[in-house]
Amino acid sequence: MSLTSFPGGAKSPRLASLTAKITMPALSEMKRQGKPISALTAYDYSSARLVDEAGIDLILVGDSLAMVVLGYDNTLAVTMDEMLHHTRAVHRAVQRAFVVADMPFGSYHASIAEGLSNAIRFVKESGAEAVKVEGPRIELVRAIANAEIPVIGHLGLTPQSLHRMGGYRVQARTAETIRQIKADAHALANAGAGALVLEGVPREVAEEITAELPIPTIGIGAGPACDGQILVFHDLLNLTPIPPAKFVRHYADASALIHTAIENYREDVEHRTFPSDEESYHLPETARRPLKANRGELPRISTLRKA
Ligand code: KIV
Repeated sequence: MSLTSFPGGAKSPRLASLTAKITMPALSEMKRQGKPISALTAYDYSSARLVDEAGIDLILVGDSLAMVVLGYDNTLAVTMDEMLHHTRAVHRAVQRAFVVADMPFGSYHASIAEGLSNAIRFVKESGAEAVKVEGPRIELVRAIANAEIPVIGHLGLTPQSLHRMGGYRVQARTAETIRQIKADAHALANAGAGALVLEGVPREVAEEITAELPIPTIGIGAGPACDGQILVFHDLLNLTPIPPAKFVRHYADASALIHTAIENYREDVEHRTFPSDEESYHLPETARRPLKANRGELPRISTLRKA
């Protein structure tokens, strides 16, 4: 990293043309106005800054970081401390987007009291503006909402239920499961959820839920009728080593870009073409002469400081 140009905390000029800070009421208003909500995950300062500058409305610090950042096989292992750590980094970068922290597996499953206290930790210790919980955890959502914390539900393919579902399978395909997901969606909204992520459900089901619910739906693998869409940052940029799911669209091939850049760097180092003379610091001419004359003898410190 350049020692002189790190802009931590600086206001981004790219954000100047965008609308005001996004909040939970602003997301509801977007649904009311029929304005699509854009959402994307981010897990660190640099990527969150880029996502925010691009005008994305909602940034989710997803527990998908377990896989795409930490290299686990699924989302189950990621801890509260790891989620807090990454949410803090994202919070430091974001000026406009609504920042949502994903509650990790185990942080709300033992009791409502523990789930509530972990939701409070996200707000107090990481700067999250909302939390997201998977599944129809109606009483937990009610408790979090009552504690003045915006909360987002997540139904359909809920990756934390991997073992119960027997794999990552599209959900709500039968009359009975469609009836159930609709009932759960209404129950979450009534309990105080401010928005609902619908993942891995048929587009027709997502469309009906979106039309019926008073709160915005944000789809991933749920078709185009949702009030908003979310993708995983690494999927959008082709930064994952596995074949993409059907619903993923690669908007760029960052893997190829990064591979080429790093290979070029390695070759330049191997051929001694990096760094160039222009990329090197120099002594002033007055200090260079004695150095050349007495190879091996160091110039005086006071001369070096001025270089
Ligand atoms: O963890 C995650 O990335 C999610 C999705 C909804 C994108 O929960």
